[in-house]
Amino acid sequence: MKKIIILSGAGVSAESGIATFRDADGLWEGHDVMEVASPQGFENNPTLVLDFYNQRRAQLHTVEPNEAHYCIAALERNYEVHVITQNVDDLHERAGSTNVLHLHGELLKARSTSNPNYIVDWTDDITVADSCPEGSQMRPHIVWFGEEVPAMETAIELTAQADAVIIVGTSLQVYPAAGLMHYAPQETPIYLIDPRPNLKSNGNLTVIEENASTGVRKACDMIHLSLTNT
Ligand code: OAD
Repeated sequence: MKKIIILSGAGVSAESGIATFRDADGLWEGHDVMEVASPQGFENNPTLVLDFYNQRRAQLHTVEPNEAHYCIAALERNYEVHVITQNVDDLHERAGSTNVLHLHGELLKARSTSNPNYIVDWTDDITVADSCPEGSQMRPHIVWFGEEVPAMETAIELTAQADAVIIVGTSLQVYPAAGLMHYAPQETPIYLIDPRPNLKSNGNLTVIEENASTGVRKACDMIHLSLTNT
């Protein structure tokens, strides 16, 4: 079975009502990103950071996957599909995608501040009163700026085997995730969907300047054509 790799970012969930990071002058829901998404930010003001992610988690319970998530999930009928997402929401899974690798963590999980391997499902608020069995504070299971991206090695291995790549809704500003596309084999077609793309079509890269819901469908049609003719 041909392998399709999806590299997704905040823009794929924009039409579900979740704000992107860089479409609002570097502010994320009114906050400086470093204030709420860095170990220093958490050290300075744990309550603010916990509340911030509590709000994001609560919001997640009110939103639904959109056409782009469903279209990506439907690719599994014909292809081996791996979704590598920078998003911490669960909208790909809810749309039916079965292989989802979360590079930057998951909102619906929490982990111990002292033991990175103590990771548990978490649907409600995390508070300063929540601790792991060893007594350390629990924190959101999110990869903050300056922290390692443990899933990166697997993501590279998957991308290196791609027969086609779809990149959707990411500004490609945050590394190492932004460098993943370069691990695809040289001849592999890459489709980038973004209403305000940072790249232009070139060689095997096709840029589709549209929202995720319509752009992903077009990319899927192009992939069917190109992969069924090879
Ligand atoms: P960004 O906010 O940097 O980029 C979102 C991209 O989505 C932009 O290029 C937009 O043009 C595009 N976009 C907006 N609306 C769209 C739509 N309806 N359909 C398709 N695309 C649309 O988000 P990411 O690249 O995901 O990390 O950001 C990467 C990381 O930076 C995040 O994972 C997060 C952040 O800090 C952490 O929290 C660790």
